[in-house]
Amino acid sequence: MPIFIIFIIFIIVIILIFSSKKFSPIPYFPSNKKDLPLIIKALNLKNNQIVFDLGAGDGIIIFEAAKKAFQQKLSTKFIAVEINPILIFILYLQRLFNPNKQNIKIVYDDIFKMDFNSLTRQPVNNITMKQFNNLIIYLYISPWYLEKTISNIKNQISKFTVISYMYSIKSLKNKEKIIRGKNKIFVYNIVNG
Ligand SMILES: C[S@@+](CC[C@H](N)C(=O)[O-])C[C@H]1O[C@@H](n2cnc3c(N)ncnc32)[C@H](O)[C@@H]1O
Repeated sequence: MPIFIIFIIFIIVIILIFSSKKFSPIPYFPSNKKDLPLIIKALNLKNNQIVFDLGAGDGIIIFEAAKKAFQQKLSTKFIAVEINPILIFILYLQRLFNPNKQNIKIVYDDIFKMDFNSLTRQPVNNITMKQFNNLIIYLYISPWYLEKTISNIKNQISKFTVISYMYSIKSLKNKEKIIRGKNKIFVYNIVNG
């Protein structure tokens, strides 16, 4: 009986976290598996590169991309940023089984406020400034949050590429390249003046 009660409490806590504004400001919904090959191609994996998934969910993109980089013997670093503690736990668990785990960093942070500059100032996991010059940012977040996230990045980083799944970024419309899969994948190369 106590085990049953503990189980019910556990389920309630999970539901509360996934429905809370603080821990889940944008609902968790993974990118469509069928689009994975197109998304990985759009990331254009290379040496001396960092790939961020801002709002990484269960890590479907980051872990698949990291596997590809491992197969191709690339030095690409991967940073999964998440705010939901349960998803953070799942990310840590999944990383254990990834062949490229030494190149994957998991960060608990808020993508609307996170300080990219502090990452460039203090090398983490041997990430160097040089790698920050080749920065790819993957986003699958609601359209009304895209602008907020892009504006936070632009305030801190002058050159980066954004891959936005499903939703276009209105303020960057003139820089748009579209890849058509099950859903659209929007690619933007951003260089601030
Ligand atoms: C639509 S899901 C996308 C998951 C993953 N990127 C993918 O493509 O499968 C959005 C994710 O963003 C996370 N998220 C929402 N608001 C966030 C915030 N302010 N900071 C960090 N992560 C956030 C959610 O917890 C959720 O996992």
